[in-house]
Amino acid sequence: MPDRTSSQRKKIKKAPSQASRKSSRQEQGKSAVSGARPSPSGKHYLSDKVSHFTESVIREMTRQAMLYGAVNLAQGFPDFPAPAEIKQAAQQAVAADVNQYAITWGAKNLRNAIARQMGVWQGITVDPEKEITVCCGSTEAMISTLLAVCNAGDEVVIFEPFYENYGPDSVLSGAKPKFVKLRPPTTDGGEWTFDEEELRRAFDKHTKAIILNTPNNPTGKVFTRPELELIRDLCVEFDVLAITDEIYEHILYEGTEHISMVSLEGMRERTVTINGMSKTYSVTGWRVGWAVAPEKITNAIRKVHDFLTVGAPAPLQEAGATALSLPAEYYAKLAEGYRVRRDHLMPALTAAGFKCFRPRGAYYVMTDISAFGFKDDISFAKYLVQEIGVACVPGSSFYRDPPDGARQVRFAFCKKPETLDEAGRRLRKLHAKPPS
Ligand SMILES: Cc1ncc(COP(=O)(O)O)c(C=O)c1O
Repeated sequence: MPDRTSSQRKKIKKAPSQASRKSSRQEQGKSAVSGARPSPSGKHYLSDKVSHFTESVIREMTRQAMLYGAVNLAQGFPDFPAPAEIKQAAQQAVAADVNQYAITWGAKNLRNAIARQMGVWQGITVDPEKEITVCCGSTEAMISTLLAVCNAGDEVVIFEPFYENYGPDSVLSGAKPKFVKLRPPTTDGGEWTFDEEELRRAFDKHTKAIILNTPNNPTGKVFTRPELELIRDLCVEFDVLAITDEIYEHILYEGTEHISMVSLEGMRERTVTINGMSKTYSVTGWRVGWAVAPEKITNAIRKVHDFLTVGAPAPLQEAGATALSLPAEYYAKLAEGYRVRRDHLMPALTAAGFKCFRPRGAYYVMTDISAFGFKDDISFAKYLVQEIGVACVPGSSFYRDPPDGARQVRFAFCKKPETLDEAGRRLRKLHAKPPS
C-alpha cells in the first residue's frame, strides 16, 4: 500500500506531553520509517509492515484537543453517560465474580442475544454456537477477520473516504487495498454516490473481499438496496467476500433503512457481519464487538482471535447480553437523540462558513472548507484546534491520497448539547479571524 498515512503523519504535529514536547518535536523531522533503521549489529528491529502506516490521526486529534483545551468534535465517543441499566448489569457481573476468562469466542449469553437480535432486526438465522466470535471491539473483529481470510497478494476493495483503520488492517493482513471513490453530494441534501464502472474495475481474480461500512463513517451515507444489490452481484460474479462494518446500524435519520448485506439473496455464505456495543450503547471504552460469519470462516476467525486476545472482557459481555435485551424504544430514542444533536451542530457549522454534507446515518458530519481559503485540511484543522479551540479530523485521513481530502474536515456530534453549544460559540470566531 502506498505510504499514505506515513506521509500525512509528517504533516500533523504530534500532541506532546508538556514534559516530552522537545523530544517529540525532534521526532517530527524523522522519517516515518526511521524505526526500520538497523541496530548496531545491522539487524532491523521493526517489521516493514509498520512503516506503511502511522498512528491514527483521529486519536491524535483527541490528544491535540486535550493539549490545547479544545472542544473535542474529532473522535467518535459520547461525552454523556451510558445507559444506567447496562452499567448496573456490568457492576452486577463483577460482583457475581464473572471475572475470569469467558469462553474464547464469547460468553454464551451474549452470543445467544446477538443471534436473537440479528433475527429480529435483519431476519437472519444465526447459529450462536458456530457462527459468532465475540472480540475486543469491532476493531479486533475486523482485523481478526482480515487476518483469517487474506493471503499475500489478495486485494481488498474499500470505498473512500474510509474509516482509517481499514488501510492498516489490510496492510497487516498482507492484502492490498483497492480504493473506489464515494463522491460528495452535488446538491443540498443529496447523496454520496459511487460510479458503477469504477467499482466493477476494482474487482478481478485477485479480489478476496470488499469492506463495506454502512451507515458510513465519515460520510454518513447509508447504502441503499439497489447499491447493495449491485455490490452483491459483483461479489457473486467474482466470488468475493463482503466484510461489513455495521456498528452504526441503529443511528439512522429521516426514516432511512439499514440493510445488512448478509440478508441479501446469495450473500449468506460470503458475508462477515461486524458489529459491536461501542456506538449503540455508548460504551466505546468497553471493547466488546463481534463478527458473524459462516462456520468455516468463523473457525478461522476464532483461531486468530484466540491467539490475539484470548477473549473480550467477561463481565462486560454479560452486560452486553442485557444491552441487547433493551426494548425497541431504546433504539428509537438513540436515533432521535442523535438527530437532535446533528440538527444542533449543522446550523452552527453552516453559519461559521462550512458547507455541510447532511448525514443519513452515523454521528459525523463531513464538511467542505473551501470557503476559508486555507492551503489544506491539515493547516485548517491545526488552526481550528489551536486558535479557535475546536478539534475536528482532517479529511485527508480518510483518503489514500491526501489531496483528495484537502478540502474536507469531519466533525463528530455524539456530544452533550452544552458541548455542541460551546463548539458553536467558539466557531463564531472563525469568520472574524481569517488566516493570514
Ligand atoms: C466505522 C467504524 N468501525 C469501527 C469503529 C471502532 O469500533 P469498536 O469500538 O467497536 O472497536 C469505529 C469507531 O469510530 C468506526 O467508526
